[in-house]
Amino acid sequence: MQASKVRTYLSVALFALLVAASTGSLLRFGLGWGMPAWAANYTAIRHAHSHLMYFGWATLALMALIWHFLSLHTGRALPRSVHWQMGMTAVLSLLSFPAFWANGYGLTQIGSASLPLGAIISSLNGLAWYLFAWLYWRESRHLPRRPLPVQLWDWAILLLLLSSGGALGLMGMVVSGGQSLFLQQTFLHLFLDLFAVGWFTLALLGLLWAWLGERIELPRRLPVLLLALAIAPTFFLGMSPALVSPPLFWVAAVANGLAGLLLFWHVAALLRHWAHLPWLMRFAVGMLAVHGLMALVVLWPGVWEWSSRTQLRVYFLHNLLLGWMSSALLALILDRLGLGKIQWVRWLGWAWIGGVGGMLLLLLWLGLLQFVPVSALLLLRAATWSSFVPAGVAGLVWLLSLRPNQAGSRTRLD
Ligand code: HEM
Repeated sequence: MQASKVRTYLSVALFALLVAASTGSLLRFGLGWGMPAWAANYTAIRHAHSHLMYFGWATLALMALIWHFLSLHTGRALPRSVHWQMGMTAVLSLLSFPAFWANGYGLTQIGSASLPLGAIISSLNGLAWYLFAWLYWRESRHLPRRPLPVQLWDWAILLLLLSSGGALGLMGMVVSGGQSLFLQQTFLHLFLDLFAVGWFTLALLGLLWAWLGERIELPRRLPVLLLALAIAPTFFLGMSPALVSPPLFWVAAVANGLAGLLLFWHVAALLRHWAHLPWLMRFAVGMLAVHGLMALVVLWPGVWEWSSRTQLRVYFLHNLLLGWMSSALLALILDRLGLGKIQWVRWLGWAWIGGVGGMLLLLLWLGLLQFVPVSALLLLRAATWSSFVPAGVAGLVWLLSLRPNQAGSRTRLD
């Protein structure tokens, strides 16, 4: 595999971001004005949006950047099998979009067969993650010691494997016709929530520290194992309160609060190197701090049950996935592609911060409507307009990523 391949995978990930963000805008349009006739199945399209974001945007980009930095740590060229794994991940992740578009996790009629296309493609994606985990273990075992970024990736990948059990469970339920709502919700949130909070957050923290490690000396002491253990049971909080018993809630809420505090530790350490961070990364770190703060607020008795009856879940999800994760990932990609120093590209970063920040504020307002009443329709429509900005930025950065290489790559590849 050549260095240009890392660039190619980042380019595919940006394309996935463009398509998934445009689909997000379509969904927002549907909430404000009604879905157009050619996109009538809102729930299925929401699945197409979230799965392409998870598999094609975040996972593919995280893996490409982990391979890049890991090769610098080991000082070894990556084997060809990494290229096969990344190619497989890229193709399967893009296929998730058409697979979910028509019927989500339901059955699709193809000829005489009724196939759970969404569940099948999720499981195939899962196989590519297992291959990634195995290759990662094979490559990283050559390290004489495991520095902070590698420790974070180790645990991120373990949580990825754990969360993939949820996708397998969902497929098992579709195939076996299982009806238990508790199991269905447990599997769904084990997959969606642990994937996001566990895999994305730890992998991304590892990447930020690897990136900073090229500029500063890394802090000696930051939480990794405890953070991973605290994050593991938090997915129960994504489920409906009607399905979660009080003891289960408190285990998850206390673990979540602890994870919030440990994330603050990372945020505080990152802020000490504020001067090295581009604005997009600073914005992302700010959104991570908001995520940590919300984990503490959930500990207040009654807040969780109350919030589940509001629109706050959508705000909470997008603060983590768009505000923190996608902003930090985009900042790292801009740097990797050698675009970070171009003046007008910096303005794209500001546009992203404005669009995403505005959309998040509107989603928060929608969640707190009972305290600050205005027309919900007005807010929904304003959120649609603001959503065009990140989709537009994704499109422009994707186009820029197709230009010939500007950055002198230091990735060690065959
Ligand atoms: C361009 C920015 C984005 C827009 C406009 C957008 C829009 C939306 C909309 C309208 C919904 C449905 C909300 C509802 O039904 O009330 C949604 C759900 C969701 N989005 Fe996004 N989104 C964006 C970015 C992201 C990103 C970056 C991710 C993940 C990496 C993501 C993951 C999800 C997930 C997991 C759900 C919930 C799916 C479910 O419950 O089935 N979104 N998004």
